[in-house]
Amino acid sequence: MQLVTTKPGIIVAEHDRELAENSRIEIQRRLPDFSDCFVELGSGSGMHLITLAQRNPQALCVGFEIRFKRAFKTGEKAELKVLNNVMVVRTDARQIKHLFSPGQVSGFFVNYPDPWDKRRWLKNRLLNPELLQTMRDLLKEKGFLRYKTDHQEYFASTCKLLSAEQWQTVKHTTDLLQSPYAENNIPTEFEMLFKSQQKPLCLLETVRT
Ligand SMILES: C[S@@+](CC[C@H](N)C(=O)[O-])C[C@H]1O[C@@H](n2cnc3c(N)ncnc32)[C@H](O)[C@@H]1O
Repeated sequence: MQLVTTKPGIIVAEHDRELAENSRIEIQRRLPDFSDCFVELGSGSGMHLITLAQRNPQALCVGFEIRFKRAFKTGEKAELKVLNNVMVVRTDARQIKHLFSPGQVSGFFVNYPDPWDKRRWLKNRLLNPELLQTMRDLLKEKGFLRYKTDHQEYFASTCKLLSAEQWQTVKHTTDLLQSPYAENNIPTEFEMLFKSQQKPLCLLETVRT
């Protein structure tokens, strides 16, 4: 099945290059209708993306998800809720640099990225210096990156990368659910699981200076 044809206007890409170019065109066509653009990397089955879109009708909310079934489920949820501000790009999140132009994104969200915690796997981590630089380039001035994880070491190493001058930390906690940020927190599918396992959850929000 070709995923893009099942949810026209919502799911806009498959892996191959031509379709990636089509999704750039589609995203760029939709953007002028919105005052903000929020981008979620590794959006999973869409629980967070959908709530984000419901709470922010002024924003085009674009999720990048590499797994077919999860991208499809997100599309189903957007259809069910009749949301016109959700798009899902079923491709590697590292493609963002080809789909957006500098200064177009108001906020990035990275929720519970795969930890890749063996030494030889570290290079696979989504939040690496190269992607962080790309995100910074695509953010508007004062645009933000909001990152959540249950993985303490990944959190500490990402915070270190983001302690550079070009970013300013505005929220930081290693126990999100007991923090003042719990009130407006949008949960994710993986977060519900980690919560049930009583794992402490970490949140960082940092702003492009
Ligand atoms: C641990 S899950 C978290 C999913 C969701 N954010 C949540 O919190 O419920 C990580 C997700 O990132 C996706 N993913 C991993 N690497 C990716 C990449 N390079 N590009 C896009 N999605 C990716 C996986 O398929 C998976 O759905």
